[in-house]
Amino acid sequence: MKTTSRQRTKVHLPKNHRRARTTENGNGHEPGSQSAPSLSAGLAAWLAKPKRNLIGGKWVAAASGKTFEVFNPADSSVIAQAPDSDREDINRAVAAARRAFESGPWRRMTPSERGKLVWRIGDLILKHADELAELESVDNGKPRAVARVADVPLAADLFHYMAGWATKIEGNTIPISVPGFHAFTLREPVGVVGQIIPWNFPLLMAAWKLGPALATGNCVVLKPAEQTPLSALRLGELLLEAGVPEGVVNILTGFGETAGAALAAHDDVDKIAFTGSTEVGKIIVRAASGNLKKVSLELGGKSPNIIFKDAGDLEAAISGAANAIFFNHGQCCCAGSRLMVERDIFDDVVAGVAEHARKIKLGPGLAADTQMGPLVSEEQLKRVTGYMHQGKQAGACYVTGGERSGDRGYFVKPTVIKDVNPKMSIVREEIFGPVVVAEPFTKPEELIPRANQTPYGLAAGVWTRDIGKAHCIAAELRAGTVWINCYNIFDAALPFGGYKQSGWGREMGHAVLELYTQSKAVVIGP
Ligand code: NAI
Ligand code: MG
Repeated sequence: MKTTSRQRTKVHLPKNHRRARTTENGNGHEPGSQSAPSLSAGLAAWLAKPKRNLIGGKWVAAASGKTFEVFNPADSSVIAQAPDSDREDINRAVAAARRAFESGPWRRMTPSERGKLVWRIGDLILKHADELAELESVDNGKPRAVARVADVPLAADLFHYMAGWATKIEGNTIPISVPGFHAFTLREPVGVVGQIIPWNFPLLMAAWKLGPALATGNCVVLKPAEQTPLSALRLGELLLEAGVPEGVVNILTGFGETAGAALAAHDDVDKIAFTGSTEVGKIIVRAASGNLKKVSLELGGKSPNIIFKDAGDLEAAISGAANAIFFNHGQCCCAGSRLMVERDIFDDVVAGVAEHARKIKLGPGLAADTQMGPLVSEEQLKRVTGYMHQGKQAGACYVTGGERSGDRGYFVKPTVIKDVNPKMSIVREEIFGPVVVAEPFTKPEELIPRANQTPYGLAAGVWTRDIGKAHCIAAELRAGTVWINCYNIFDAALPFGGYKQSGWGREMGHAVLELYTQSKAVVIGP
């Protein structure tokens, strides 16, 4: 079986996105100017089938029988109805996961068998890559082409990477100073894990969560975001096809305040893993306190992307800065949303990023020439345009963008703002849209405090050819990831997570194994 090459799964914008093509009028924004391409017959047939939760290996409706509508954000059309799960469904799923953990075949499976099973999930994702990319596109709004080269292969790669760990979860032998005694540690799964994921990379976030949980032998109740529940359900079908025993992974769709809250608070859940807003992260911590379940959090960001005048290839830095904020429509927790530029080159960089912004072709995710799709929901449209409005009220200068695009679907114009100050909400808060604020700096000693002047600490970018300076700045930045002369480079082997209010714990790489295992010391007497 051919495997995905690591190189191919690096997240860059597709070529035509990084170097936005010039359209006839030099302006790519015209989302309504074309009719949306139709769905493939295969996906249309899948969408037409009733959607169910996966509990104990069976596909079942919500206990209440209720469903909610799932929208295509490109035109607000309803594409499916998903189970509106609540406490009772969570109870059933947690019970199924507990049974599977305590007494199912999962427990008896050897690490080698478990590893092969996790590997097969990656293979099945690749086998269905086109279909999954199309599904992700109509559910989330992102361009199908981007999902096909980024989300889907990265999800497969995560399972392939984690498969290898199944056979390498090791303890230690420990030479204790008690004569005649022998001691060692075991690394054991945490148990029943609740996982709550967001809508910005629905399939990929499911993979980030499920891959390590399964490789380490846990059982899972997964709740995808209410905006984008569909790829997780399709993934559930693939999990069964790969041979995941019943109850090992349970997938329930529903809202945060109901299904999510019930899962976070459940007394028989041993750990909760959450990705989403910092606000809800704090709610999760409180909900978890009832039984002191373990908690890992991957939360928001307001990441600085710093360009020095010695960046060398300024075009590369400019296009990198555009990629940092506009990739996935700015709906990235690590988006480079604060562009900090050395004063001598500030005007050129801002003009360059604005030019990139103007040329980005907006459109429905399924259109072949779309470079940026709609935001995920009407709520996000209101939130992002609300921030745009606040910035104008506060007196910031909009170099380009600053408003909704068209009146159908949830499109906004890629936006570049300057003349900002640290009091403005657009500078302080996570906007989660294609909106970057640019500010100049002169002295390095003012740069670092300003770059770190945020409650978040997820990521940062630095553009300089001075390797010594790059090292120093990387050391000073309070962020879980620092990209130097690049941005948005991800790999299943690379740990990802936040300093400060950007989260607890690291996902991916071997660091994530800490989140899904616990250590047991065993002492044998003479
Ligand atoms: P959210 O944090 O409310 O939703 C994320 C997930 O948490 C969803 O699955 C949701 O159903 C669940 N959830 C919500 N309330 C919950 C609760 N009380 N208990 C348990 N689970 C709960 O994010 P939302 O409302 O979709 O977006 C709002 C803002 O959050 C965005 O504008 C963005 O700033 C930020 N965000 C950050 C993400 C990240 O990757 N760091 C991802 C999504 C949103
Ligand atoms: Mg919310």
